[in-house]
Amino acid sequence: MSAVHVESSREQRVTVPSLARRKRRGERIAMLTAYDCSFARIFDAAGIDVLLVGDSLGNVIQGQDTTLPVTLDEVVYHTRAVARGARRALVVGDMPFGSYQVSPEEAVRSAIRLVKDGGAQAVKLEGGLAVREAIARIVAAEVPVMGHVGLTPQAIHRMGGHRVQGRSEESRARVLADARAVEEAGAFAVVLEGMPADLAAEITGTLEIPTIGIGAGVGCDGQVLVMHDLLGLSDWTPGFVKQYANLGALASQAARRFADEVACAKFPGEEHSYR
Ligand code: KIV
Repeated sequence: MSAVHVESSREQRVTVPSLARRKRRGERIAMLTAYDCSFARIFDAAGIDVLLVGDSLGNVIQGQDTTLPVTLDEVVYHTRAVARGARRALVVGDMPFGSYQVSPEEAVRSAIRLVKDGGAQAVKLEGGLAVREAIARIVAAEVPVMGHVGLTPQAIHRMGGHRVQGRSEESRARVLADARAVEEAGAFAVVLEGMPADLAAEITGTLEIPTIGIGAGVGCDGQVLVMHDLLGLSDWTPGFVKQYANLGALASQAARRFADEVACAKFPGEEHSYR
């Protein structure tokens, strides 16, 4: 593919059908989380295909230990901000814990809120066999669904922590069955989180829909990272994360320089003062 073609295809809006085409052509998908308009603009202009307004906002924005307290209103709020900054990327709103587990009707209502009030073009929810009816009903209501199987952070208490899934034969079969159930229910893509690379590659080879990996090796159709991990803004990162920049250190240096210059009355100098 020529550079010109890559550039022009970058300008076209990423859609649910275009992601399906990407898988058929063997073109990989880059997804990042975003929680506000400023970073959504930056990532969108950089060519990121999918912006996920993850319930990870509970951890990285709110400082919570788990994603469980995040509310639908909070995800709607952040999704609205991200949608304003995205011109090309597909914006996916994450369905928080409690917004889809009680009944398929409530799941449809929550998904519609993310589209109507948040401006999401699709939603994501965690689970496989247990949520297939919810997925089918949301899809029937014309809201595209991205699944999420393997290590599902909303199931932290069942899993006993953030534990890699699919290591035993039994667990492997369960993760595979979950991924199949998500596809059969009508999802357009599925996140594969925290599982052995060979299992993720097997699922990717089995499913027709694109798989997006996080801690699942290179054999997926795409990859996703939490933006704070990518940019060096997290206190701690799991071993699968590659940090591509250290904005934490840059922000700290800038804040220190500002504080020093305020202390010695160097800022604002004349050039930063009105006359
Ligand atoms: O909430 C989130 O950010 C996610 C990604 C890690 C896939 O679900």
